[in-house]
Amino acid sequence: MVLVGVVLVAGEGTRLRPLTYTLPKPLIPIMGKPLVIRAVEGLRDNGIHDFYVVIGHLGFLFKQALGDGSNLGVRVRYVEQRERLGIAHAIHRAIEEGANGELVVYLGDNYFGEGVGRFIREFEEGDYDVYIVLTKHRDPTRFGNAVINEGRVVRLIEKPREPPPNSYVVTGIYMFRDPDDVKRAFKTLKPSARGEYEITELIQWFIDNGRRVGYTITNSWWKDTGTPQDILDLVYLMLDAVEPRVEGEVRGVVNGRVIIERGAVVEGVVHGPAYVGPGSIISKDTVIEHYVDVESNVVISGGALSRSLVLNDARLELGRARVVDSIIGPRSTIRLERGRHTLIIGEGNLIMSMDWA
Ligand code: DAU
Repeated sequence: MVLVGVVLVAGEGTRLRPLTYTLPKPLIPIMGKPLVIRAVEGLRDNGIHDFYVVIGHLGFLFKQALGDGSNLGVRVRYVEQRERLGIAHAIHRAIEEGANGELVVYLGDNYFGEGVGRFIREFEEGDYDVYIVLTKHRDPTRFGNAVINEGRVVRLIEKPREPPPNSYVVTGIYMFRDPDDVKRAFKTLKPSARGEYEITELIQWFIDNGRRVGYTITNSWWKDTGTPQDILDLVYLMLDAVEPRVEGEVRGVVNGRVIIERGAVVEGVVHGPAYVGPGSIISKDTVIEHYVDVESNVVISGGALSRSLVLNDARLELGRARVVDSIIGPRSTIRLERGRHTLIIGEGNLIMSMDWA
């Protein structure tokens, strides 16, 4: 059977507002590329060429970004999920719209440090009806949990208040051998207390009905990007893996592991790890301290910037100010004079903090 990718991006990203009012989180670019594109490319490089993308909130933006998939060498079809009725519902919608094959379901806001190749291979080579990827997390109560007993998954619980012993967090990649089984399982589900058809309950059906549920524990980091801090953590992790490359123009100083894209100009100082996107300008009185991702066509003058993500076409006039742990939305303008600031700003805002004295 052919592998079919089902990528879910119908979330509203409420904890990332105001950014996600105009930019869904799987479309936030990190080092020049949105997570959803990285997800599709990762799956494609492991043999998946047929995709169903389940869209809801701002779905048209995904259509603009991915098109029919031909730019990425894949075929993409879109499935509308009008109401956000849960991950199990979203998967069922994709099957209703024709997703047929061995399903590799991927949550568009997840990212795996080790890539997805090993998972897909183990699913393909193993004799499993369902395959999931687990990890340890410092806060298991935010996720689905899988209880392991004698090497088998025996129970799944969504966001338990008290995680049971021998349990792991369930990450956002799920594989199903037979879509007909998913349909059977879905028919038995009822919405949970939060009004969703839960993925954990869908998989529990497979356990209860004697299906083979395989799993692995990822041996690298995993990120689910719910909050601004999650996005920043992902930026730091990705910057840590940077292969240095300077294609732009450096008139100032560039130190350590940095990517300076073609068309970028660095007149000031950039300490790595850092990324400066195409067309961006780091002026001569600016210091990029470290762990900073500046996307395309951004202009930064004055000040210092540390551990931050600056999205395309933003203007930062920083004077003697220092900006840390911040996300600046596309096309926003920030004017500061002094002090230390942490800002989470959406698209097209103007923020001014002046010393009027
Ligand atoms: O990230 C892993 C976790 O994802 C799992 O551990 C949980 O078991 C699983 O329920 C889910 O938890 P969240 O509550 O964090 O899921 P969230 O609502 O953030 O949705 C995850 C992705 O799925 C997101 O990219 C949007 C998409 N989605 C979600 C729902 C509820 C849809 O496409 N449709 C939906 O109805």
